[in-house]
Amino acid sequence: KQYTALLPAAGIGSRMQASIPKQYLSLGAKTILQTTLESFLHHPLIKQVVLVLHPDDCWYQKLSVSQPHKVLCLSGGEQRADSVLAGLAKLAADEWVLVHDAARPCISHQDISALIAQVEASQQGAILAYPVKDTMKRGNAQQQIINTVPREQLWHALTPQMFQAGELRDNISAALSQGLAVTDEASAMEWAGYTVNLVKGRSDNIKVTNPEDLALAQWFLSQQTD
Ligand code: C5P
Repeated sequence: KQYTALLPAAGIGSRMQASIPKQYLSLGAKTILQTTLESFLHHPLIKQVVLVLHPDDCWYQKLSVSQPHKVLCLSGGEQRADSVLAGLAKLAADEWVLVHDAARPCISHQDISALIAQVEASQQGAILAYPVKDTMKRGNAQQQIINTVPREQLWHALTPQMFQAGELRDNISAALSQGLAVTDEASAMEWAGYTVNLVKGRSDNIKVTNPEDLALAQWFLSQQTD
């Protein structure tokens, strides 16, 4: 069985302080977006990629992408969740979809496979995540510590996150209409009462956000063997 990947890539990456959107910055020979996209296009369990771009995007058409026939491009919205909803609108309700930040180019084939295997075994939604290592503090507006948050149960939420398209669409729409901040797919599904499984992924699956992340991502990619 093969699946669809949905890549929200409609952000402008303001924290990157670059003149072009961060997904078009270079990581060695390829841009961030090309690297992420090709990881999915080359995975044997992925049949197509729904790529959500900014309405004013004029960079994508200049990229040379392998297997362009497997990529469906759409325009995104104001927030990440709006861009994800735009992509979900193109999918059948009972189709399982892997939603992945375009800004996470270091995603490995093993992690994509592990996530799919967990969903196939459980028939429940799941996300890649990794356990928190540092001691965690809650702080107030004055940057004083309120307390220490026990870290035993804390995980960093990564992507991809895999759910059935129809349920995900309904729950993101409902959560947004209730004023919830939907910063990942799982938050809408948890809120709606679904069980969502955590699949331990690699900590090098970083989201390129700040300028220093670029060199780090490039180094992680140079270390990958699969
Ligand atoms: O801004 P942030 O790093 O959280 O964005 C995560 C992903 O969501 C990025 O790949 C970005 O391009 C995408 N995004 C989007 N539509 C938006 C905002 C962000 O597709 N309106």
